[in-house]
Amino acid sequence: MGYLIQILLALFISVIGGLYLLGAFRRRRPGEPPLDKGPFPWLGHVLEFRRDTAKFLQRMKLKHGDIFTVQLGGFYFTFITDPFSFGSVVKEARSKLDFTKFAEQLVARVFGYHHVEDEHKVLQASSTKHLMGDGLVVMTQAMMKNLQNLMLHSVGSGDDKGWIESELFSYSYNIVFRAGYLALFGNESPKDAGNLEKATEIDRQHSDELFLEFRKYDQIFPNLAYGVLGPSEKMEAERLKRLFWNMLSVQKMRSRDNISGWVQDQQQHRSEKGMQEFMQDRFMFLLLWASQGNTGPAAFWLLLYLMKHPDAMKAVKNEVEKILRETGQEVKPDGPLIDLTRDMLLKTPILDSAVEETLRLTAAPVLTRAVLQEMTINMASGQQYSIREGDRVAIFPYTAVHIDPAVHPDPHTFRYDRFLTPEGSKKTDFYKDGKKLKYYTMPWGAGSTMCPGRFFATNELKQFVFLMLSYFEFELKNPHEEIPSIDTRRWGFGSMQPTKDVQFRYRLRF
Ligand code: HEM
Repeated sequence: MGYLIQILLALFISVIGGLYLLGAFRRRRPGEPPLDKGPFPWLGHVLEFRRDTAKFLQRMKLKHGDIFTVQLGGFYFTFITDPFSFGSVVKEARSKLDFTKFAEQLVARVFGYHHVEDEHKVLQASSTKHLMGDGLVVMTQAMMKNLQNLMLHSVGSGDDKGWIESELFSYSYNIVFRAGYLALFGNESPKDAGNLEKATEIDRQHSDELFLEFRKYDQIFPNLAYGVLGPSEKMEAERLKRLFWNMLSVQKMRSRDNISGWVQDQQQHRSEKGMQEFMQDRFMFLLLWASQGNTGPAAFWLLLYLMKHPDAMKAVKNEVEKILRETGQEVKPDGPLIDLTRDMLLKTPILDSAVEETLRLTAAPVLTRAVLQEMTINMASGQQYSIREGDRVAIFPYTAVHIDPAVHPDPHTFRYDRFLTPEGSKKTDFYKDGKKLKYYTMPWGAGSTMCPGRFFATNELKQFVFLMLSYFEFELKNPHEEIPSIDTRRWGFGSMQPTKDVQFRYRLRF
């Protein structure tokens, strides 16, 4: 009996101790933001947050205003929803708000990768060199070559040109993923394959296999990131990780041609730092994930919005045709392939606006920082709030600005010219309550973790649409079908995906 009491007492103490450690007894101190601990002592609001982050944060905003702290699975997150106050998070010194700690833990859990010193600096330097400015000239050429290989190889022309039926999400994601992968991670060497034709054939096969497996990982990713996989999903995630480490291994990369400077620089840095090769292989998968998980879904939404808005489609098509004319290029049977350069892609304000509008509606990252020491958040209203060490500070731009009608009128409607001035150039002046807003969309995040691939990604989207419009006629199978809704389980992870696919068909224009 005495033992039983001791066991029960020990159990009671560990439950209470556990709850204490998980913050279940936390009280709001004076000067702190409103605190909402949610319905369950240790889970807090995590179930509602996961079910539909956007809806949950809108509800919290209505209840608490521009800043509030919520408990999510034992962690306290302070969300800032006033876009005029974002600067106090985005520009805060790293000694107070750190972006790496949170990301490194996630990356270790999801990708099995443990970082080395200075890697964020190297990532930024090599991205500036290879994915922006002049570096983009080379990347645009690589992307173009691979897009044409994938898009044109199995479509009939002339008398053979029948309609090909497909699903728009699968098609767009497949093509953009594979071309982006080949442009960054290199091609099969014609020397090893026997000749160029065989090498391009191997590129098509290998990239398709990789895509099919990537989609499996993609589908379990939200549960993996939240650490809530069931036993069979856990085994599948392990299998897939090992498969990617192998398919993308440094050893296999050694025999590839045209590996981008971006991938090479990262690998060289790790090798010089003495990182073991198996860990470098894991990093390759991380690079694949970061570079290929968002652009394909974004390409789908962009094409879909254009198809659903004939005025937008017409405007973009005219722009594409004008640029082709100005560079003396014409698409014709047995004619040369289009040579679409970086310079040509700098002359497309209408397409730029359509891309930005697509990302406003469908890119929804959560930006998170770890609070390293007790600090004060200065709101634009003049109010100050103290934030505790060990907490997290977060911004969800989608509800805070992307769909705020005070910033973007009629926010759920796709307006291809929303980011164009009346003169037809890029519009950057957006206002809320009569005050000019710096952060009027944030699909790429902001501050030190802002997506380093954003210029390359924009280019990829534009190249894909440019080629679709130049080479193909395409249409929705059911033009009156509604645009599918967003899969709410993926809020917070970047580009959103649809709840279902959309049938379409395409055929060569000549
Ligand atoms: C439409 C396509 C894309 C979207 C919407 C997107 C969005 C984002 C966002 C929101 C972040 C995190 C920002 C943060 O935590 O503050 C990010 C990080 C990152 N993105 Fe992208 N991205 C896209 C395409 C790409 C491409 C094509 C590449 C590379 C070629 C790339 C490479 C990266 C890398 C390496 C990071 C980590 C940055 C860091 O740790 O500092 N992304 N991206």
